[in-house]
Amino acid sequence: MCGIVAYIGDKEAFPIVLKGLKRLEYRGYDSAGIALINNEGIANFKQKGKVSFLEEYAEDKDSSGTIGIGHTRWATHGLPNDVNAHPHLSGDGKIALIHNGIIENYDTLREGLKARGHVFHSETDTEVLVHLIEDIKNNEKVSTAEAVRLALNNVIGAYAIVVMSIENPGQLIAARKSSPLVIGIGKSGDFYLASDATPIVEYTNEVVYLDDEEIAIVERNKGLRLYNIQNQEKTPYIQELELQLEALEKGGYEHFMLKEIHEQPRSIRDCFRGRLNVDKGWVGLGGIKDYEQKLANANRIIMVACGTSWHAALVGEYLIEDLTRIPVEVEYASEFRYRNPIISENDVVIAISQSGETADTLAALELAKSKGATILGICNVVGSSISRITDAGSYTHAGPEIGVASTKAFTAQVTVLTLMALAIGHRKGTINESKFRRIISELELIPDKVAEVLRENDHIEHIASIYKDAANALYLGRGNSFPVALEGALKLKEISYIHAEGYPAAEMKHGPIALIDEEMPVYVIATKGTSYEKVVSNIQEVKARKGKIIAVVTKGDTQVKGMADHVIEIPETDEHLVPLLATIPFQLLSYHVAVMRGCNVDQPRNLAKSVTVE
Ligand code: AGP
Ligand code: GLU
Repeated sequence: MCGIVAYIGDKEAFPIVLKGLKRLEYRGYDSAGIALINNEGIANFKQKGKVSFLEEYAEDKDSSGTIGIGHTRWATHGLPNDVNAHPHLSGDGKIALIHNGIIENYDTLREGLKARGHVFHSETDTEVLVHLIEDIKNNEKVSTAEAVRLALNNVIGAYAIVVMSIENPGQLIAARKSSPLVIGIGKSGDFYLASDATPIVEYTNEVVYLDDEEIAIVERNKGLRLYNIQNQEKTPYIQELELQLEALEKGGYEHFMLKEIHEQPRSIRDCFRGRLNVDKGWVGLGGIKDYEQKLANANRIIMVACGTSWHAALVGEYLIEDLTRIPVEVEYASEFRYRNPIISENDVVIAISQSGETADTLAALELAKSKGATILGICNVVGSSISRITDAGSYTHAGPEIGVASTKAFTAQVTVLTLMALAIGHRKGTINESKFRRIISELELIPDKVAEVLRENDHIEHIASIYKDAANALYLGRGNSFPVALEGALKLKEISYIHAEGYPAAEMKHGPIALIDEEMPVYVIATKGTSYEKVVSNIQEVKARKGKIIAVVTKGDTQVKGMADHVIEIPETDEHLVPLLATIPFQLLSYHVAVMRGCNVDQPRNLAKSVTVE
């Protein structure tokens, strides 16, 4: 969580840092702050709430200076208020620091510092770190950069930090451990630092991704030096960014979420570009080519993920087990990492993550790696931490996803998992040629069929207007549509704050059926396929209790149409591919409900896009 941005160069820092914070606001929006060094010393502007409040607040103040650091916060320690907002200053006001992460031993450190006379103003863990740096600097008589290094050796936890000191206004010091940090190398001796590349891309496409326990010192017109935490100098590895600036704009849509929902025909096509050849009857994932045999021979595949990515993994479980006959387990990364899981060298552990930065998913992978498993990643953000620590992986190529609620990343993850299942199944011979050919031909048609579902927007908006005030909602599905039900419920709760639950349709009678009355909308995936008749019976059970049925059905269906209060039709496709279509109406429905309820669709309360804390 938290977005950090910093600039040093010959331009005014404030507008650059402010714009960067706006781009990173999806990472946290509890408060925002920018500190600059100018003739007055350190000017520190901080405001509770959104970056626009900070902008307004600083409007009539002196915000000059060509070096600056900025932060948009997702609070872990202390309320979201002005005092707890970053940047935090040392006791003497000479050092300013921004931080993304958690200093786990902050309490012990703070007690020690208090005993040495330090006074703290905020409730944050972060303030302890800047005082620790000051304390070491004064006691050991070392440079700020050295004090940062020594301080970090005493820290337990996760951090991406940028530090600036009034004593050296030509220098920024940055470091990371478990939280991301990228340095953009400007064209005129200037540097742009940020949590991800989105604030950097409009100035330069040359970047250096910091690795864990690396410290970078960037100096105006002098360059970048890189050290590890033991003080050994390292050679920076400069990479070229491929991100396009337009991908970061709303492109005429009212919200990023709506734009991202509508991008799915393209993002799914981009995802299988170069990986699928229907004429030749071929599927392959370049990134994991060398691991295909390992996957085919695996005893077991374990997928670790959180939230929406975990739902994509569940769809993957149905597909991989069915098409490859390899046992698959899907685990919440946060549970997996702490329960001493049984992992062997013949297991393949796949992490699924849009951001590639989720702390629990990263930690689960590290654990699996330490036990000798092969670790693979399915990530959207290029160059992210997960993509860098895995043995190999496949990018989802969905493009930047800015809306906090994941939409196009989910369908892209499901697409990669479908390709993976098909590639392994084909190699192993667990799918016969005609079935393989049938599914890949259908897969190629999915982007057009998604576009067809998107054309149902007005109808879905109308349904949203009927149920927008219902306090609860139930989502039901069977087989690979069960994860779609879970994902539908998550989308509704996270952006419209309506309590919603996803269930396997047949489980309803084991408890949730008690919730059903005439007020309860029940969203059901009732497409043609293996469990169609069973789902029809579940719909009857809901109707018998006067629940309202909104069913996603296959085009032309008449049976469910006769029973449901509303139907949303999706085009016919192979049963394995239904999740890619059935999920779209629920994305649109949640979007419209949230808009009608006046919710902040792109930045829902209490959430952040990239969860870099446990
Ligand atoms: C999705 O809508 C959520 N906001 C959230 O559950 C998300 O999927 C989860 O935090 C995992 O993120 P990741 O894919 O970046 O690892
Ligand atoms: N722990 C710090 C705070 O609460 C930073 C939070 C974060 O990175 O999410 O202010």
